[in-house]
Order: sequence, then C-alpha cells, then structure tokens
Amino acid sequence: MPQNLLALNWKMNKTPAEARAWAEELREKLEPGEAELAVMAPSITLPSLAAHLPPGVALGAQDVSKHESGAYTGEISAAMLVDVGAKYVVVGHSERREYHGETDADVAAKAKQAQANGLIPIVCVGEGLDVREKGEQVAYTLKQLEGSLSGVGPDVVVAYEPVWAIGTGKTATADDAEELAAAIRDALTERYGSDADGIRILYGGSVKADNIASICGQPNVNGALVGGASLKVPDVVGMNDAL
Ligand code: G3H
Repeated sequence: MPQNLLALNWKMNKTPAEARAWAEELREKLEPGEAELAVMAPSITLPSLAAHLPPGVALGAQDVSKHESGAYTGEISAAMLVDVGAKYVVVGHSERREYHGETDADVAAKAKQAQANGLIPIVCVGEGLDVREKGEQVAYTLKQLEGSLSGVGPDVVVAYEPVWAIGTGKTATADDAEELAAAIRDALTERYGSDADGIRILYGGSVKADNIASICGQPNVNGALVGGASLKVPDVVGMNDAL
C-alpha cells in the first residue's frame, strides 16, 4: 500500500509574503505524521516556500507548460519548477480544463513534459454533475484518464475529483470515492502492470479534517487533493493528524 499523500492546492491564493507566514506557522505547529505532505502553490511563491517550509514537506506547482522552453509568453517550464525545488505538479485540474480549454491531449503532453524533467505529475480527472446524474461517472472518468495518460509513465499520481464536489461543500461519500478509485486502479493495472500497485490515487472535493480519515481509509484511496481547507494551518494540521 503506497504512503498517503496529502496534497494542498492553494489555487490562486497567497502572495509570497503570505506564503512565507503560512510556512513559518506550519513549521511551529506541524507534528510529523504518517502521510507525505505537499503544497501545490502559485509558482511565484515557490522560492519563498522552499526557504521556509518544514523539512520533509514537498513543494509542487499547479500547472506546467507542455513545451520545453522558448517563445511561450507567460508559461512556466518544468525545468524552472525543478530549479526552485518542486517535486510535484498538478496537471489537468478541472479548473484548467474548464477555464483554459485544456484537453486530455494537453494534459498528457504536460504530464510527459513534467516526467521528462523529473517532476511527478498529479493528473486530475473526474465527472461533472450532469454525468453523475446519468450514472455514467465510471465510463466518463476512465475515458478521461485514458486520454490524459497517453504516453505517460507510471511515476504519476492520479487525483479523482468529481467536479460537483469541488468547493461546494458536497463531498462524495467514501463509497463513491472508492468506486472510482477501484476502477482507476484497474485501468492503471491494465496500463502499467504491477507498477500500478505503487501509484497513489487521491480523492479531491470538499475534503477537510472531519472527513479525510474515512475517505482515505478506503482500500484504493491513497490521499487527498485539498483546496479550501489547505489555506489555514490549523486545518492542515487537523487533516495531517487524522491520516
Ligand atoms: O484541488 C483541489 C480541489 O479542487 C478540491 O477543492 O477542497 O476546495 O473542494 P476543495
């Protein structure tokens, strides 16, 4: 069973100064736990975080260019993220797919670019409410996964995030999370063979300290990708202690 990963996605929150204050507070309050802790922060805050996070807490970014380098104004390359100390990068978050038109092919290209530079991509998939209401969440999510992992190696994390549960306070039940995580595990096994056993499958969507243990206690769920509850240190400490 892989080690749980508690991945904190700040989204577009915190300036570098606020990130530093958060990291210093975390350093004071965090007791080492069973899970690996990682902060997916706005790229501009990564140098400040790298200098102030408690030892052992990993750094990550929220997006990466699918290109190696060159004339791509506004983009940030995988090599740049590695240079400032990132270990992970989120790719294909539903907000990138919805607001920036990212396709499964874009997501796969970004994940491959990340891996080529030594970053571990956290590939996000998950259905919207319309799909869930039709009961088609498994087929939809697996199709998205297949496209998003095309050509991507097994050194990857998969995050299942039902879009209807993101930032809404509506959490999927532990059984809902396990239904999709088990289906994702089977698809990963088909793709990667026994390497799939070590791949972390995260659940994301309104996770907080009082529901994280039951969700991550499911056999195929190996951690969480957390948005809102990642912004305040006491909430993070509560989730870390619960795992
Ligand atoms: O990346 C995190 C997810 O979008 C979940 O966000 O915990 O605010 O629902 P949330």
